[in-house]
Amino acid sequence: KLKVVTIGGGSSYTPELIEGFIKRYDELPITEIWLVDIEEGKEKLEIVGNLAKRMVAKANLPITIHLSLNRREALKEADFVTTQIRVGLLDARAKDERIPLKYHVIGQETNGPGGLFKALRTIPVILDIVRDIEELCPNAWLVNFTNPTGILTEAILRHTSFRRVVGLCNVPIHMNMDIAEMLGADISRVHVDFMGLNHMVYGSKVLLDGEDVTDRVIEMMANASDDMTMNNIAAFKWNPYFIKALRLIPCPYHRYYYKTQEMLEQELKDAENEGTRAEVVKKLEDDLFELYKDPNLNIKPPQLEKRGGAYYSDSACRLISSLYNNKGDIQPVNTINNGAIASIPNDSAVEVSAIITKDGPKPITMGDLPVAVRGLVQQIKSFERIAADAGATGDYHTALLAMTINPLVPSDVVAKQILDEMLEAHKEYLPLF
Ligand code: G6P
Ligand code: MN
Ligand code: MN
Repeated sequence: KLKVVTIGGGSSYTPELIEGFIKRYDELPITEIWLVDIEEGKEKLEIVGNLAKRMVAKANLPITIHLSLNRREALKEADFVTTQIRVGLLDARAKDERIPLKYHVIGQETNGPGGLFKALRTIPVILDIVRDIEELCPNAWLVNFTNPTGILTEAILRHTSFRRVVGLCNVPIHMNMDIAEMLGADISRVHVDFMGLNHMVYGSKVLLDGEDVTDRVIEMMANASDDMTMNNIAAFKWNPYFIKALRLIPCPYHRYYYKTQEMLEQELKDAENEGTRAEVVKKLEDDLFELYKDPNLNIKPPQLEKRGGAYYSDSACRLISSLYNNKGDIQPVNTINNGAIASIPNDSAVEVSAIITKDGPKPITMGDLPVAVRGLVQQIKSFERIAADAGATGDYHTALLAMTINPLVPSDVVAKQILDEMLEAHKEYLPLF
């Protein structure tokens, strides 16, 4: 028996995950997948759950798909638990994106004020899930893709004694794919050292067939015609002189910090025209669910790749397989630092290349962060720690502190205005405040 429980199973991303499990069935012979959701998500759970059943039937595999609204029942004897929840659904995300824009501050669901509020809404729920896991399936691994995964991992490390947790994001795999493409090589030949934080990760070294090609990649990236971005992030090109001076490979989300002005202007424009990303995604989701309803559909529809989370199943399934098979391969994950990055506290969550064993990820020693990025990363880490405490305690002053020290927020006065307006707008989903 090999049981996987996916909380937030009604998500439009679920077919991505199911496809990943089907592809890897030989090495990861899952017997049961439980897709769990809440009452409000019942309809979506049924639509996407039935598609999952058709996908498994088409692949002719002995995996049973269970749909459940009872999380505690589903968790019993789970081997792996994955979480992909969105507390307050896309309406809450739209508020995360729109309210800061009123104050001329970037509205983004994982960075800045939006990310803070997504964390405040989600932390109590994820801590609850951890308590259930500790009670009902204490040997299970929790693989969390829920945003903001860095802050959620931090909250679990700081506010529970549960350590079988790994935070995941598709940004590193996306960077890896883009770099391989630039090099014209299959991804299997390309190794990237990742270090930093979630949505704040840098590629520090690239190997092609074991040979160091970092300088070549930096040159190529500086002159790239490929915009090296993701579907959900504006495709502004990097200033080539900056990339050459930095000598690191930034992630797509670094645009919010190194191009704050351009990104803000773009977001203001988008909000007026096609809508914020949440509003665009709502339409994409409606279309996706229409497709999913088709009883003849039995594969992941290619339209799903229009979402920012495309290929996340590749990170998820290869991680689960390596934990299960004790593979000892290297993957970028969010885990406890344990000294891997010297510039960040040992007990903090970092996003870093790690060796994946049955006992969890062992982060690879990276040394100090280069001085040019050290301050920014440490500042974001401080923001994340304080945000994690605010989410776990519901303390107003802690939340205000987190909001004010976030580098995307330009003033203590504006910080309080945004905080107060967002606390009011989201109060239904902030029971601790
Ligand atoms: C990227 C990030 C995810 C985020 C997604 C948003 O993949 O790594 O953390 O959830 O983009 O994509 P969306 O299509 O929902 O805007
Ligand atoms: Mn992510
Ligand atoms: Mn790309």
